[in-house]
Amino acid sequence: MKINKNYLNLSDNYLFSEIAARVKKYSAENPDKRIIRLGIGDVTKPIAEPVLDALTQSVNEMGKAETFRGYAPDKGYEFLRNAISESDYRSRGCDIEPDEIFVSDGAKSDCGNIQEIFDKENTVAVTDPVYPVYADTNIMAGRKIIYMPCTAENGFVPELPGERADIIYLCFPNNPTGAVITKAELQNFVDYARKNDSVIIYDAAYEAYITEPNIPHSIYECEGAKEVAIELHSFSKNAGFTGLRLGYAVVPKALVREGVSLNKLWARRHATKYNGAPYIIQRAGEAVYSPEGAAAVKKQVREYMENARFIRDSLAGMNYRVYGGVNAPYIWLKTPEGLTSWELFDLLLNKANVVGTPGSGFGKCGEGYFRLTAFGDPTDTKEAMERIRRL
Ligand code: MLT
Repeated sequence: MKINKNYLNLSDNYLFSEIAARVKKYSAENPDKRIIRLGIGDVTKPIAEPVLDALTQSVNEMGKAETFRGYAPDKGYEFLRNAISESDYRSRGCDIEPDEIFVSDGAKSDCGNIQEIFDKENTVAVTDPVYPVYADTNIMAGRKIIYMPCTAENGFVPELPGERADIIYLCFPNNPTGAVITKAELQNFVDYARKNDSVIIYDAAYEAYITEPNIPHSIYECEGAKEVAIELHSFSKNAGFTGLRLGYAVVPKALVREGVSLNKLWARRHATKYNGAPYIIQRAGEAVYSPEGAAAVKKQVREYMENARFIRDSLAGMNYRVYGGVNAPYIWLKTPEGLTSWELFDLLLNKANVVGTPGSGFGKCGEGYFRLTAFGDPTDTKEAMERIRRL
């Protein structure tokens, strides 16, 4: 028996597990300290009422023989895929059909699993800094990875890959930098992929946080994107489903490589390895698209963005260089006085009892940066800024 030795090329711990372990240790040693967590991008607002109503109703359905449901359809219930197709795509002029949508338990699983339908010999391009799952899952598979630096100089939007990339992961609005991409810049990537026969995996998990006009909400707003792109969505950040778990992947039928439909390949993988998000969660997801549900989740997003504004303004007032936080729930700041990312993490944890995420955990180019999330409770967020001010 041989193990998959590619795993030995990973760092020992997943970034957010490492942070959780350090915070747990500090808490155990300092039980009297109240820690404010602005680290992992986990939401704090409860499920919005119209969504909760749908969830409760479907739980009750499961208790009656005539409305009980067993296994869900492979790709997800039609009621949810129709709602997604209509609200997230057709209403934006993107012609994505329900059978191009695969409902899942979240974008993290999808962005980790999608690489299984690609050969090991493909070269993968990811941004640096990067959401660790894109890089780590390809390291596990033993693929060659090239990094596209995202720096203050390029506005945290990468140049096209310097060498040929077969698979390109992009995430906009970006985790961790909070940067957005213009439609023209995204079109450049789509054109690159068309020319080079590459596939783009576009993570749109933070799309609901876009506040400015003319920022693409979906890669399918770009011409020809259906022939080159898979798009991933999450219900975690816009509707607070981090605990409920729901997401979806779009694999267009026009996406064909080596004469094979990737929609068909992903359908085969999905049906074989996955039994579908629970009925009750898919009903809750459907309610996110109802008029009442959509209004309620929009209000939550606006409130989180108020935290983002507060963090940005407070830090800028303390002479920090801050980025993001305008179209994204993440604020990316330059560490002061030449501190490394982990040094600032330790300083904030020990002296302000505030948890953030060290930028270097997202890659080399993240060194000297630090990420705070806008997902905290508003009072805690204000208190965190006050504690940092007092340092
Ligand atoms: C993050 O903090 O980067 C995210 O919460 C991680 C995730 O969504 O899995």
